[in-house]
Amino acid sequence: MASVRAFTRLATRRTAVPAVWTRSFASVDTSARDPISKLGEKIVPDKAANITPESETSTKKEPLPDKDAKIKTFHIYRWNPDEPNSKPKMQTYTLDLNKTGPMMLDALIRIKNEVDPTLTFRRSCREGICGSCAMNIDGVNTLACLCRIPTDTKKEARIYPLPHMYVVKDLVPDMTQFYKQYRSIKPYLQRDTPSPDGREYRQSKAERKKIDGLYECILCACCSTSCPSYWWNQEEYLGPAILLQSYRWIADSRDERKHQRLESLNNSMSLYRCHTILNCSRVCPKGLNPALAIAEIKKSMALAG
Ligand code: SF4
Ligand code: SF4
Ligand code: FES
Repeated sequence: MASVRAFTRLATRRTAVPAVWTRSFASVDTSARDPISKLGEKIVPDKAANITPESETSTKKEPLPDKDAKIKTFHIYRWNPDEPNSKPKMQTYTLDLNKTGPMMLDALIRIKNEVDPTLTFRRSCREGICGSCAMNIDGVNTLACLCRIPTDTKKEARIYPLPHMYVVKDLVPDMTQFYKQYRSIKPYLQRDTPSPDGREYRQSKAERKKIDGLYECILCACCSTSCPSYWWNQEEYLGPAILLQSYRWIADSRDERKHQRLESLNNSMSLYRCHTILNCSRVCPKGLNPALAIAEIKKSMALAG
């Protein structure tokens, strides 16, 4: 399975990227996995393992685990932009689950705080609100703070950055293009008509209901980075997250630029690269349905003639 995943990642690697040549992709050369260095709670010191010297990594080792320790192994994608000639590699950490919080983000924070301070990842709210801890965990794009650590210690966890994104460092993807696309849809209320009484722009309950399932999007990019169409056409196809956000404004009764918004999507790439594969709706950690939003945009376009 691991080799299939590695092959898929290598096979989906893009080639013509001169402007950002020095940045890494979230793909791992299998040869870089051998030997894998091990850091963390070790039950028996293993001289055969290629343990990175403390002097090189400032690694702070945990005390020896308790007798009833539940040791879980985490393989984590590492790439350091300060060593651009080094290939990405998987690094192995072991943690005692009895001393670790229940979520994957708890494990990452514990590794960073107590085992290896060089491990880099984004996080902020720790409760599924900010979207910054999005990553690929055990093959699924999700939020590390909402993803429980499977308690089966025989199963080893594998954590990668969001797929098909340039990597800034370790688990941190480069979101520049994603946010550029978000800016392109003008994600704010546009209208010329002032409100009749100079107060808020009001909506009926039915009008307000139309943006349920849309306004909750936290722009984590889990959906877009699981979408094959977005993998291949990221420069031009907006992808499910941005299209859902676009529909959020198209569906808003207070906005007066519905026509222009639809017109800007009416080309062969921005919207119509969606082939209804539905990966996006399957992975959304907020339970939203970007594929449905895309279908609604297509319907609005057809009705607008
Ligand atoms: S439904 Fe469309 S947006 Fe969603 S994964 Fe498939 S192609 Fe991508
Ligand atoms: S639709 Fe869901 S998966 Fe996509 S960006 Fe929004 S919250 Fe994240
Ligand atoms: S830390 Fe904010 S969503 Fe996970």
